[in-house]
This record gives sequence, structure tokens and C-alpha cells, in this order.
Amino acid sequence: LPVAAGALILGYLLGSIPFGLILTRSAGLGDIRSIGSGNIGATNVLRTGNKELAAATLLLDALKATAAALIGWYLFGEEAGLLAGFAAFLGHLFPVWLGFKGGKGVATYIGTLLGVSPLMVLVFAVIWLLVAKISKYSSLSALVATLLIPVVLWFMNQPKVALVMALMTVISWWKHEANIRRLMAGTESKIGQKG
Ligand code: G3P
Repeated sequence: LPVAAGALILGYLLGSIPFGLILTRSAGLGDIRSIGSGNIGATNVLRTGNKELAAATLLLDALKATAAALIGWYLFGEEAGLLAGFAAFLGHLFPVWLGFKGGKGVATYIGTLLGVSPLMVLVFAVIWLLVAKISKYSSLSALVATLLIPVVLWFMNQPKVALVMALMTVISWWKHEANIRRLMAGTESKIGQKG
């Protein structure tokens, strides 16, 4: 149990660092939570018009989960790495510092994959880019990619990783509820659009 607790606490603390909020605030762009969708993630940072900041948000939000997974693995073993990545994802979604109102977990999902099953990041990227090219919706691209990743992992004979990623998919889909409603209503904003 102490091993699991250590991995969970470490992951949660790393994951709860809201890079999107910190970067936009440092750049003098105000509070990202009052811009666009109000989300603290890279997609919404892009709505400020600052591509570099959006890329940095994606990278840092992803790498905090990768760091959690790798440190957890190094300290406590392989399964603890997976657990720490999951905890980082939860930390991003429910950061204590922001009254538990965090992001939707796409970058931390990718970052966890990078830590525990790096080739899957390529699979994620291909699916995401394909859907994005066709639809121009960041949310839809993430929804499709996160839906398919556990299936691919399952067939790649990584059942434990598949199971945890599937759980993350369910939670992330739940956090995308407003996006799903907007997608169905045809009112979701396309990538880079301010709306
Ligand atoms: O998957 C991208 C998701 O985070 C959408 O972000 O800002 O459009 O709600 P946003």
C-alpha cells in the first residue's frame, strides 16, 4: 500500500500543476478560464492566438504525466508507473489549487502513454491528426483517439495498460460533456477559432 500511495501522491501533485493557466498568466494574457471554452488546456490556450504558448502548454501538461509515470516506475516498479500516470491525469482534472476545477486530460493522457507505452503516442498522434484534418475539431479528435487507444493496447497484448487507459478515456469523455453537446449541436468551435 505505501508504494501505491507514494505513486498516487507524486502523480497527483505533478499533474495538478496547471501549466496553461501559469503560462498565459505569465504572458499577461489574463485568466485562461475566462477565454473561449474556459478550459485550462492547450486547445484553449491556442484561442489566445499564441501558438507557441499553446504548444508549450501541450508539451508541459503531457510531460508532467510522463515524469510522474517514469519516476513512479523508477521508484516503485512498472505498475506504480502506470498508477502515477493515472494520478497525474486526475491531478490535472481535479487540481486542489483550482478548487478541483481542472482540464479535460488529453495532454496528460498522451503523457502517460509516453511513459508507459511510448509507441502508442504515435498511434494517438496519427488518429488525432487524421480526425483533426477532416473535422477541424480538437475535441472530436481527442474523443476518437482516446476511444481507440485502449482497443489498440488490448490487441497489442497490454491488458493492464489498456484497462487503466480505458478508465482514463471514460473520465476524459465525461469531462468533454459540454464539447460533445456542442459537437452534436454543430456549435463546437474549430481548432484555433476564438468562439
Ligand atoms: O480535446 C481538446 C479538449 O480539451 C477541448 O478543449 O478548450 O475546446 O474545450 P476545449
